[in-house]
Amino acid sequence: MRHLLTIEQLSRAEIEAILDRAESFAEVGRRDIKKVPILRGRTVVSLFYEASTRTSSSFELAAKRLSADLVSVRAAGSSVDKGESLKDTVATLSAYDPAAIVIRHPHAGAAQLVAEWAEAAVVNAGDGKHEHPSQALLDVFTLRRRLDSLEGKQIWIVGDVLHSRVARSNLSAFRAMGAEVTVCGPPTLIPRGIEALGCKVAHSLERLGEADVVYVLRLQRERMKESFVPSIREYAVHFQIDSRRLGPRQLLMHPGPVNRGVELSGEAIDSPQSLIAEQVASGLVVRMAILYELLAASGERPAPAAGDGAARPIPIGQPA
Ligand code: CP
Repeated sequence: MRHLLTIEQLSRAEIEAILDRAESFAEVGRRDIKKVPILRGRTVVSLFYEASTRTSSSFELAAKRLSADLVSVRAAGSSVDKGESLKDTVATLSAYDPAAIVIRHPHAGAAQLVAEWAEAAVVNAGDGKHEHPSQALLDVFTLRRRLDSLEGKQIWIVGDVLHSRVARSNLSAFRAMGAEVTVCGPPTLIPRGIEALGCKVAHSLERLGEADVVYVLRLQRERMKESFVPSIREYAVHFQIDSRRLGPRQLLMHPGPVNRGVELSGEAIDSPQSLIAEQVASGLVVRMAILYELLAASGERPAPAAGDGAARPIPIGQPA
């Protein structure tokens, strides 16, 4: 794997190889010394043009746990504020000879451009409404741990699908792993023709009981230039997931950050069915696995054949 730009670039076997690697980093995380020397002497650049808590912190911690040197740049407060272009910023940071650049940018296709300009491996940490592949991988990892396999599972993605890069990446990843996906929301928040991606569409929560997993999306008010819902209150009445709508055997997920009381009630967030905290924890080990696959795995072992989806941790070496 040269770059991680989209989920569609990955086969099921490649997804499973990353998840198996992440299992081995979870084992490292249970040791007293959680750091391994795999990327010692190599540099990872974290370049964020949009707000982030989970993705930025977990990629940065992942790089440190692998013993890489980390350069962390937030566009706000950098020379981007003085008008420096993305291309010039990437050229500037490339002068440090990074092995990887992790980039989040508001424009779809930005990560692809960086991959064309830079020598480094590029990780798309979210490009506009396009893709967020590391989120999809950590979500599949979290579900595989709970369910063993996603094969035949019914997953409902509920909420603001139109503005969501997570919806696009997760739809691809869930389908690649054998799940059946339904997207649900008001017609104004579901992209026209999305069925062509292999999902079903629902415009009410009437049949939510069919779902094994309810994956709720944030209402992305910062990306809405016009009114897509009559009011937040009305949206919550029809689409908020609360303990009344969530069955006891259903699993609840959300990529974060949550608009508490809008797409999710507080009690649903804190319910035993909620995997939200597990998703955040998975982010660290899955992002360690992504950096490993990009920078350290080449030629080490062939990818396993697509299998039953069961976890197979790969042994990791001595502490740093
Ligand atoms: N899920 C996600 O991308 O969260 P952050 O915006 O906090 O990185």
